[in-house]
Amino acid sequence: MKVNKRAIINGIVAGLAIIVIIGFAIKPKTDNETSTNNRGQVSIGGDFSLIDHNGVRRGKDDFKNNYMLVYFGYSFCPDVCPLDLQKITMALSTLEGEGVDLSSLQTLFITIDPERDTPEVMNEYLKNFHPSILGLSGSVDEVKQAAQAYRVYYNKGEVQVDGTYLMDHSSIIYLMNGEGNYAKHFSPEQAPNEIADGIKHILDND
Ligand code: NI
Repeated sequence: MKVNKRAIINGIVAGLAIIVIIGFAIKPKTDNETSTNNRGQVSIGGDFSLIDHNGVRRGKDDFKNNYMLVYFGYSFCPDVCPLDLQKITMALSTLEGEGVDLSSLQTLFITIDPERDTPEVMNEYLKNFHPSILGLSGSVDEVKQAAQAYRVYYNKGEVQVDGTYLMDHSSIIYLMNGEGNYAKHFSPEQAPNEIADGIKHILDND
């Protein structure tokens, strides 16, 4: 029988390509994407030790039995952070307007730029937003630990001649339930009413 070598080689190449493709498709997702704890919940959140915008040290236990809306950002952010804080403010105001009891919900704005965002700076900055939002800052290491617990990415940009710099960071609003576990998250694309509805749904049903 005459064997067409080229056809065999083509067959082997195609076969290997399929194996590689299948291999990628079934590759277990990385820890970051699907990490869950033993109760099947996404493991986002954890303990932290930070200073609030009134100068009081705060940890996760201070918000025990509270739902927490958690957002990481920085006060010098030129665009995304103020917009997101404005959205959170509008969502909270909408819920208040609807008569939803928000006494069990604590919103936290955690800086990822502790070098500039001192408690005093946070205090001043947060006057622009909903009065229930609590700002948290701390040492570089304390902030790093909190960001790691929430799987928040951030990176300090190049310092300019005038000493200013930008922070690159992920912008996700986390809603944590009364046990301090992840319940839901919102992305910067979502409208205030969607955030309000999501909060209401968790407060009503969780
Ligand atoms: Ni920002």
